[in-house]
Amino acid sequence: MTARYYITTPIYYVNAPPHLGHAYTTIVADVLNRFHKLTGRETYFLTGTDEHGDKVVEAAAAVGKDPQSYADEISDLFRNTWPNLDIANDYFIRTTDDLHKQVVRYILQKVYDAGDIYFSSYSGQYCVGCERFYTDRELVDGKCPQHDRPPVPREEENYFFRMSKYQDWLIDYIQKNPDFIRPERYRNEVLSFLSEPLEDLCISRPKSRLSWGITLPFDDRYVTYVWFDALINYVSALSYPDGSLFARFWPVAQHLIAKDILKPHGIYWPTMLRAAEIPLYQHLNVHGYWNVEEKKMSKSRGTVVKPLDLLKVYGLDAFRYFLMREMVFGLDASFSEEALITRVNADLANDLGNLASRLLTMIHKYCEGKVPSPDTEDKDDEELKRAATELPATYALQVERLEFHKALMAVWELINHVNRYVDQSAPWVLARDPQKQSRLHTVLYYSLESLRIVGVLLDPIMPNASKELLDRLGFKIDSSELRLGRHATWGNLLPDTTTRRGKALFPRIERKVEDAETDEPIKKPLLKLDEFSRLDLRVAEILGAEAVPGSENLLKLEVDIGEKRTVVAGIARHYRPEDLVGRQVVMMVNLKPAKLMGIRSEGMVLVASIDGEMTLIAPEKKVKPGSPIH
Ligand code: MSP
Repeated sequence: MTARYYITTPIYYVNAPPHLGHAYTTIVADVLNRFHKLTGRETYFLTGTDEHGDKVVEAAAAVGKDPQSYADEISDLFRNTWPNLDIANDYFIRTTDDLHKQVVRYILQKVYDAGDIYFSSYSGQYCVGCERFYTDRELVDGKCPQHDRPPVPREEENYFFRMSKYQDWLIDYIQKNPDFIRPERYRNEVLSFLSEPLEDLCISRPKSRLSWGITLPFDDRYVTYVWFDALINYVSALSYPDGSLFARFWPVAQHLIAKDILKPHGIYWPTMLRAAEIPLYQHLNVHGYWNVEEKKMSKSRGTVVKPLDLLKVYGLDAFRYFLMREMVFGLDASFSEEALITRVNADLANDLGNLASRLLTMIHKYCEGKVPSPDTEDKDDEELKRAATELPATYALQVERLEFHKALMAVWELINHVNRYVDQSAPWVLARDPQKQSRLHTVLYYSLESLRIVGVLLDPIMPNASKELLDRLGFKIDSSELRLGRHATWGNLLPDTTTRRGKALFPRIERKVEDAETDEPIKKPLLKLDEFSRLDLRVAEILGAEAVPGSENLLKLEVDIGEKRTVVAGIARHYRPEDLVGRQVVMMVNLKPAKLMGIRSEGMVLVASIDGEMTLIAPEKKVKPGSPIH
C-alpha cells in the first residue's frame, strides 16, 4: 500500500459563486483526504479556481468589472467557503498565480520543442460556455449538451496540439489499466470517444479576440486555451518540475471530477502529460450530477442550492453526512430538503444520536458516569464484538472503492446491531438486580466500545460529531493522531474513564407544518355519534415496557387501564422502553385481541404519525388510569 496520497478537485470557474455541486466534489475530496490520513498516509489535498478565458471575461463585463478584480472576488468566495464546510485543503491554487503561469509556459515550450504543437487554420462550432470547439457528433439537436445553446461558427489561425498522435497509445493504456478511469461507466465512455478518430486540440486564442489568458511562450500574439492552462494546475501546484512536492506526491495523484469534464481529464490531460514526458496520474474518479427537481440546477428556475444556506438550517455534520450517504458515487442523485430531513432524523437523530444519549444516560445512572469493566462474554456479546471488529476493514475497502454509501450503510448496520443488543439485554432491567451487576457492566461496555469504533470511522465524514462523540465516551484524542489500525480496534476504551453527557448530538429537524398537512387527505366515511361511541378509548398508564425479541419495531407494554393489560405497540423505532414507563397514553381498549410475535395484544395505543414518525397521544395532565375518553 502507498504511504502517500494526493487528491485534487476541479479548479472551479470564477464566473459564479460556489453551489451544491462544487461543495459535493470538494467534500468528497476532503473525506478521502481525511480517510487517508486516518490510515496513516501522508496526504496532499488541492483545490482552487480557474480564472482565464472568455467565460470569466463575459461574467466580469456583465457586472462592470475588470477580469482580475472580478476573479479576485469570486476566488475569495470559494476559498472562504471551504473552511465553513470543514474542508481542510493543503493548498488553494489560482490560475492567475505567477508560479502557475510560469509552469504553463514551461510545459508549452517543452511540447512545442518536441514538435507536438503546430500552427494551422481551423474552422468549427465553438461553445463559449465550455470554451471549446464541438464536433457535429457531440452536439445534441445542434446545441451544446452542457449549455443547451447553439455553438457559434468560428474560423481562426491557431496553434494545435498533436493529440491525435497519442490516440492509440491512450486506448492501449486505458485497456491495460482498468481502474485508471473509474467507475467503469466513465472508462467506457472515454473508450467510446476514442473509438472515433481523435482530432488535434486547438490550444491558443488570438489576443485580438481574447487577451485574458497566459501568453504563449513562442508567439506573443496568442494566449493559451483555458483547458490547456487549467489542467496544468495539478502539477504547477506541486512546483513541477523541480519541487519536492512534485517528487513526493505526483506519483500518487488522483483526480476527482464530475462527469461534465470527463473528456478534458480523460483525454486531453493524459495526452498532454505524455507529450510533456510527465508520468500519468493514478486515477481519475468521476461522479455524477446532483439534480434538483430531477433537473440540472438552474439560476432561472431558482434551483441553485447554496451550501451555506443549508448549513445554517441543518448543521454541517448532517449536511456532509447526507451528501456522502445519499449519492451513489458515479450516478446522478436528486437533492431535496425533504430527503435531507428524513436522513438526518432517521439515521443521525434516531439511530446514532439516541443510542449515544441513552447509553451515556445509563452509564451515569448505573455506573457513576464511568466506563464499566466488562466481565465474561456470552454469545450476543461475542457477536457484537465480531461485528465491531470486522467493520473497519469493510469500511476501508468501500471508501477506497469510493462506495461511500455502502461504507456508511455498513456503519449503520453496526449502530443498529448495538441498538438491538441494548434492547434485548435491557440494562434497565439488569440494573434492578444487584446480582446482575457484572452482566450490566459487560452489556454497557460492549455497547460503548462498539459506539467508539463507530465514532472513529465517522471522523472523515463528520469530523466534529465524531470528535464530540469520542470525547463524550471518554476517548479523548486529537483527530490528527487518530489512526484506523490502532484506534478502530476493540478494547481501546479503558474502564473507569469518565464519560460525559451533553445535549443531543444531532437535534431532530422539525418539518414545516404545511408539509405534514398534505400527507393524508381526509377521505374516510362520515360516522354517526353512536358509531363513534362504540370505540372504548381510555387513558392508560404504562407500567412496564420492553423490546419484543426478533422485532425492530415492536414494544411490549404492560398498562393500567383500571385493570392490567398487555399491548404490543409498533413504536420501537421512535421510543425507548425505559422512557415510556410512567407515561400516560390514549388507548383503544375494545379492539379484538390479536397475537403479535407470539404475544397477545389487548388493545391499541394511539399515536399521531407524521411522515413516518410517530408521537404518542397523551392527556394534557395526569388523570386516573382507565378514565374514559369521549
Ligand atoms: N474550470 C473547469 C474545471 C477545470 S479543472 C482543470 C470547470 N469548472 S466548474 O466550475 O464548471 O466546475 C465543474 C465541477 O463542479 C464538476 O466537475 C463538479 O466537480 C462540480 N459540479 C458542478 N455542478 C455539479 C452538480 N450539479 N453536481 C455535482 N457536481 C457538480 O469545469
